[in-house]
Amino acid sequence: MPKDGFQGKLIKGDNSVVLDRMIAEGTVVSCAYIDPPYNNKDRFDHYEDNKDYDIWEAEIIAVSSKIRSLLSEEGSLWVSIDDKLMHYLKVALDNVFGRENFISTVVWEHRTTRENRAIFSNNHEYILVYAKNFEKFKSYRNPLPFTDEWKDRFKNPDNDPRGPWQSVSANAQAGHATAGQFYELVAPSGKRHLPPKGRCWLYTQARMNEAMREGRIYFGKGGSGVPRIKRYLREVKGGLTPHTLWKADEVGTTASAKKHLLDVLADVSVFETPKPEQLISRILSIASNPGDLVLDAYLGSGTTASVAHKMDRRYVGIELGEHIASHCVRRLRSVCQGEQGGISKAVNWLGGGDFDLEDSAVA
Ligand SMILES: C[S@@+](CC[C@H](N)C(=O)[O-])C[C@H]1O[C@@H](n2cnc3c(N)ncnc32)[C@H](O)[C@@H]1O
Repeated sequence: MPKDGFQGKLIKGDNSVVLDRMIAEGTVVSCAYIDPPYNNKDRFDHYEDNKDYDIWEAEIIAVSSKIRSLLSEEGSLWVSIDDKLMHYLKVALDNVFGRENFISTVVWEHRTTRENRAIFSNNHEYILVYAKNFEKFKSYRNPLPFTDEWKDRFKNPDNDPRGPWQSVSANAQAGHATAGQFYELVAPSGKRHLPPKGRCWLYTQARMNEAMREGRIYFGKGGSGVPRIKRYLREVKGGLTPHTLWKADEVGTTASAKKHLLDVLADVSVFETPKPEQLISRILSIASNPGDLVLDAYLGSGTTASVAHKMDRRYVGIELGEHIASHCVRRLRSVCQGEQGGISKAVNWLGGGDFDLEDSAVA
């Protein structure tokens, strides 16, 4: 969808300072994603990752607390972390958000190849998810759109004019049943069915008869199998509840993210730890809606901003390093010009819109 006007801001500076300013200005954020350095002592070209643990933890707690102040009542914070620090961070963030506002831990398959030099090949990372207010987030969050694979499970072997369907059980646990749910069901073939022991029919007899008249009950290929209810694809509402396991073939890997970045920014040094656009897109589609403000306080190579732009969210991305110019700004320019990698095809991205760059030191 082409867009006009500014929808995002990239801010060069220390997130702690910028977040304080955003709090003072009364900014309201719907969804924040952060991918801080994992403090695993790696030396990256673009940023430091070797702080004393206590300092690292104190910084993350301070940043997360500030982000919590910025969140709307329905808002959420999503934090990427690896195996080494995940459990410490979980305890720290429980203290910031309250255990009652912990939503889930997503496990992301970040690589698919085997690391043979290690004792275990580490193929996953985590994303910790917290709500400002659990119940309000629960009503606000979106299910995932139905996938083609899921839709393919609906078939139409009997050329039902209502289209593809899937059969689901016609009986349920008898625990809360009413007397009207126990009866002998007579199939069109004449075969008689009783609900299995300890179970009742899902429908009362009157409703079942009506469903049978409408051809909504399936008795197997021969017409004398156990009755089942036909659930039609066109009548299914909502979407899919996300799993906690996010596989590489659905949301990409670090390697696929690097490859995408190399395609967009062919002439700059590769950013070592980008996240794939598909991963961030899944987060934004669950936790935000078009027009909402999305925040990334460790912008890195600009993935969250790029995805937010393509998904019609407003956004603020904060980055300390010089790569805000060499990577983020150039990447976002390319996005505005209709860049076709990452999630572009999935969201029908054609280009458009604009963004602003600000240096917090001179703002
Ligand atoms: C792991 S990278 C983020 C990668 C990002 N998710 C992506 O997809 O490209 C972490 C980033 O946080 C930045 N950073 C570290 N401390 C910061 C701070 N105090 N304020 C702003 N950015 C910071 C680093 O310069 C680095 O670019």
